[in-house]
Amino acid sequence: MAEFEPRIVMFCCNWCSYAGADLAGVARLQYPTNTRVIRVMCSSRVQPTFILRALKEGADGVLVTGCHIGDCHYVDSNVHTKERMENVVDAMELLGLEGRVQLEWVSASEGPKFRETVTEFVEQIRALGPSPLRAE
Ligand code: FES
Repeated sequence: MAEFEPRIVMFCCNWCSYAGADLAGVARLQYPTNTRVIRVMCSSRVQPTFILRALKEGADGVLVTGCHIGDCHYVDSNVHTKERMENVVDAMELLGLEGRVQLEWVSASEGPKFRETVTEFVEQIRALGPSPLRAE
């Protein structure tokens, strides 16, 4: 039996996390290739339906990243992201999908943090195994 390789969808804010990913790449920091990055203009753009759709279409986990609190380019929109994601994480637990959705703040200067965040999340999902929603 082939080893399970998690499929991760990662939403990255254009202004911070996406630039952090770019910095990690420029610095040649190694991290797992299990993620598919979707760039959004702000973490607050990520609606819960985006997360559900990613899981429904085969993602084993979804990582939402954005600017640190106080650094959002749209004033306090990431405060709303934080509140919304707390509800999404609670809903995931009710659905038996606990641990498969996570929010992290990664700035443009945090290439190493980007690498750590991705690496840890991939290992977390690997330990959980394939999503029960994954189509066989
Ligand atoms: Fe990055 Fe809002 S602009 S989280």
